[in-house]
Amino acid sequence: MSETPDAQWRDEPTDYAQTGKLPRLRSTASGTPTLGSLNITAAATDPELLDLPWHIALEHWPASALAALPRGISRHVVRFAHFGGSVIAVKETSEHIARHEYHMLRKLRRLDVPCVEPVAVISGRSTSEGEELDPVLVTRHLKFSLPYRALFSQTLRRDTLTRLIDAQALLLVRLHLIGFYWGDVSLSNTLFRRDAGSFAAYLVDAETGELYPELSVGQREYDLEIARVNIAGELMDLAEGGLIEEKVDPLATSELIMDSYRRLWSELTEQESFELGERWRVGARIRRLNDLGFDVEEYAIRTAANGTQIQLQPKVVDAGHHSRRLLRLTGLDAQQNQARRLLNDMDAYRVDNNPDLDEDFSAHLWVKEVFEPIVRAVPRDLSGKLEPAEVVHEVLEHRWYMSEREDRNVPLAEAVQSYLDDELRHRRDEAEIMLTADARTIGIDGDADYQST
Ligand SMILES: Nc1ncnc2c1ncn2[C@@H]1O[C@H](COP(=O)(O)OP(=O)(O)O)[C@@H](O)[C@H]1O
Ligand SMILES: [Mg+2]
Repeated sequence: MSETPDAQWRDEPTDYAQTGKLPRLRSTASGTPTLGSLNITAAATDPELLDLPWHIALEHWPASALAALPRGISRHVVRFAHFGGSVIAVKETSEHIARHEYHMLRKLRRLDVPCVEPVAVISGRSTSEGEELDPVLVTRHLKFSLPYRALFSQTLRRDTLTRLIDAQALLLVRLHLIGFYWGDVSLSNTLFRRDAGSFAAYLVDAETGELYPELSVGQREYDLEIARVNIAGELMDLAEGGLIEEKVDPLATSELIMDSYRRLWSELTEQESFELGERWRVGARIRRLNDLGFDVEEYAIRTAANGTQIQLQPKVVDAGHHSRRLLRLTGLDAQQNQARRLLNDMDAYRVDNNPDLDEDFSAHLWVKEVFEPIVRAVPRDLSGKLEPAEVVHEVLEHRWYMSEREDRNVPLAEAVQSYLDDELRHRRDEAEIMLTADARTIGIDGDADYQST
């Protein structure tokens, strides 16, 4: 390569919220693919970005550059590529959309909403023949995440579906609380990660999203209606392909999102009145909100004119209560339900072993004596199957069921071994490639037959 590596800045960013651009590389020798006037907007300079074959249309990228991971249905051409030690998702789209989505995802990340992480927008692409290529949006592949069609290997069971929809509703509520109107809510635009037996949903496609200081009821209801219609379509599609349990009614199931969303929304935002003597209700409400994974930053308590009633209006903040407590105590980064499960065990551990110890110190001991030994016990060839926090959660569950079944206190080491042999070994690998029975329906990169829609 004969490009000059020195930085040659052009288009100094004038929007200072936006980050700088990588140097433009000039081409010299003809015949070799050149980078032309490639223009990269990225938050951090990742020089590896320049190693990818931007002069080739995404559809024709060589299999060697691609990472074989399940991908959801999309309008645009989307591919996963190896990038340093990790994986990125590359989407070919218009410059306007790519930039809008890039900046929107950055804002959402700052607001602590679960969504994919934007890496770069790359424009000014052309082939070595000089033919223009569409700009791309690059995001980091969300590890251990699965498109909904890859969450099941044969048929989707009704209760799995309900849990998916609950996760989707919670995501929508969180987005609406911060003033984000999605505009294209669907299972396809959401990624799911297992979270202690249920699912955590992440926004993947922000193309149609808009941020407002606050959403009106009309905007929220409209988004919800879009969700219902899209989910109904997606479920009918699954039903037609025989991928869903027969007893599931796609239309009725899609309506679950309305209930689930509204219940959450009112629990989180509604004003509540009660008699002065029922003050315990303040605490009860806060506990319920915490259980849903939300913190109460402040609440307004007012006594009504006649002085016999209290009105409570909580102001909830992002759903990070358990995750943050776990992170603060142990440095472990887990999802909400995982964190809650691990914290329960940690609290129980403290009561049993060192009730007089400081919370922080006991947490440290728990990590060393419970968490780490479990993670270390997972042989290398199995460690890609589930993320560590999920494995620990499952081992703790497994131990509990074993103890109950055998009516004795099963030691941790024994529970771990039994879990590895009886459960984890039979799992599909979720960090890496997953070729499942429905692989044809989810589009595996590198599969020549795959047509993106
Ligand atoms: N960062 C990412 N991590 C994991 N999967 C991703 C990522 N970005 C895209 N995908 C996958 O690609 C699919 C299509 O992406 P999306 O942004 O929805 O494209 P489109 O705008 O064409 O609908 C998603 O459903 C998802 O399965
Ligand atoms: Mg999409």
